Amino acid sequence: MQHLPVRNAFEGAPVYYLSETDSTMDDARALLRGDAASGTVVVADYQRRGRGRFSHRAWTASPGENLLFTAALAEDRVPRPTTQLPLIAGLAVARSLESRFGLRPRLKWPNDVLLESGKVAGVLCQGIPGWFLVGIGVNCNQEQFPADLVGSATSLSRTLLRLVDRFALLETILGHFATALTDPDRRPAVEARLWRMGERVTVVPGEREAGEGVSGTVLGIGEAGELRLATEDGERRVYAGEVL
Ligand code: BTN
Repeated sequence: MQHLPVRNAFEGAPVYYLSETDSTMDDARALLRGDAASGTVVVADYQRRGRGRFSHRAWTASPGENLLFTAALAEDRVPRPTTQLPLIAGLAVARSLESRFGLRPRLKWPNDVLLESGKVAGVLCQGIPGWFLVGIGVNCNQEQFPADLVGSATSLSRTLLRLVDRFALLETILGHFATALTDPDRRPAVEARLWRMGERVTVVPGEREAGEGVSGTVLGIGEAGELRLATEDGERRVYAGEVL
C-alpha cells in the first residue's frame, strides 16, 4: 500500500492509498492484524464491493471521483457509549463541508449527510475486537448516478458546480473527526444540524431490527446517539432504524 501525503490529525497515523480494492473496510481490518496506530486510514479511488449500512445496498462510486475511506480507531479512543460514533463521524463530515465550501449540510439520523438536493455522504461503523472501523463515503466529483440513486443522491461538484480536491477534504474531515471525538458539546452540535428536527417523522425498523414503525416529533438525540421522539404516548427513544 502506498502512503498518501496528507496531514492526519490522528497524531501522525498513516494514510494509505489504494487505486482499487474490494472495500476499504476489509483493508483497514487486515492492517490491524499488525501493529497499527489509532487513526490509521485507508483510502481508495475505487471499490469493487463498497458496502453500505444495509446488506442489500452496495456503496457504488465511479472510479477516482469520490472520497472513500476507512479510519481505524482504537477502542479506547472512542467515547462511550460507542453507539454515538456514526453521528460523531457525520458531524465531522458536516463541519468539513461547512468550513471548506460554506454549505449547510443536515445529518439524517443515524448515518447520512444530506444536502438540499440529496444524500452526499454516508457512514458505516463496525466494531471488531479492540477497534472500531469508521467507513466514510463522500460523493465529491461524481456527476452521474445509477438509476436507483437518481433523485436521492447528490455530489459536491453537482452542488458547487466545480470539482473538489478529495484529499484536501480528507484532511479536513480527519481534523474535525479527531476534535469531535473529545468535544463535550457535540450533541447540541448534532442536533443543530439534525434533519427533520422538530418535525413529525416515522422511523421504520432497519433490516436487523424487528417491530413496528414509530411516529412522533423529533426532539433530539440521546446520550447513546438514539433518536428522541415525542409520541402520543410520551417520549420514545429509538436506537436503530430509518427515518422516513
Ligand atoms: C451508507 O450510507 O449506507 C454507508 C456508506 C459507507 C460507504 C463507505 S465508502 C468507504 C467505506 N468502505 C466501504 O465499503 N463502505 C464505506
